[in-house]
Amino acid sequence: MSILRPGEAHSQPPLIYPAYASNVARAPSRPLIRVPANMVDLAAPVYGYLPIGEGDSDLTRQHAGEPLGERIIVSGRVVDEDGRAVPQTVVEIWQSNAAGRYLHALDDHPAPLDPNFTGAGRTITDAEGRYRFVTIKPGAYPWRNHPNAWRPAHIHFSLFGRSFLSRLVTQMYFPNDPLFPFDPILQSLPDPRAQQRLVSTFDLDLTEPEWALGYRFDIVLRGRHSTPFEGRA
Ligand SMILES: [Fe+2]
Repeated sequence: MSILRPGEAHSQPPLIYPAYASNVARAPSRPLIRVPANMVDLAAPVYGYLPIGEGDSDLTRQHAGEPLGERIIVSGRVVDEDGRAVPQTVVEIWQSNAAGRYLHALDDHPAPLDPNFTGAGRTITDAEGRYRFVTIKPGAYPWRNHPNAWRPAHIHFSLFGRSFLSRLVTQMYFPNDPLFPFDPILQSLPDPRAQQRLVSTFDLDLTEPEWALGYRFDIVLRGRHSTPFEGRA
């Protein structure tokens, strides 16, 4: 009996290959069931296969007009556990608009959508591991986790780093948010220092006069000082 992986009949070994004796006991004995992919199963926006364009890192210039809200710059360095730069790695972000509303079918928070804001961007780190986004400061939003539950303003981040082992999905927060003590996602991190690693710092050097405040968010992939994964206490 031979069960093939869907769509991989010629390029991959079958799941059961009797000549390889111990494989028989480990492999499924009945045909695989295909679970239909659903938008709800997606944990992040789908960016497609197009190369990263220059405009992808400026979320304020993806539409005909400018989005409403406070324009900000979010920038930092991606480093590994030894502090070495991680160059040429894709950094993806997604976030709510300034009113705390996502452009997502399941977001029914009664706050306005912004026709000039999608809330998703991506870029690639330079030779020193640096990345930079221009965006709008996201708003807090309710999320029904418990009575009167509100998420602190945050930006979602996704990185792959050098390999699958350095995969990171996390959230960046803004300094001194009064919602921190009430947020179970941030509070799920037992170490306050780890919580602090998810909070960006206001940076006057990143701030551009007459234009936008700057927030620094450095990211450490793996190791003792790693940027924590979201919701994985
Ligand atoms: Fe969120």
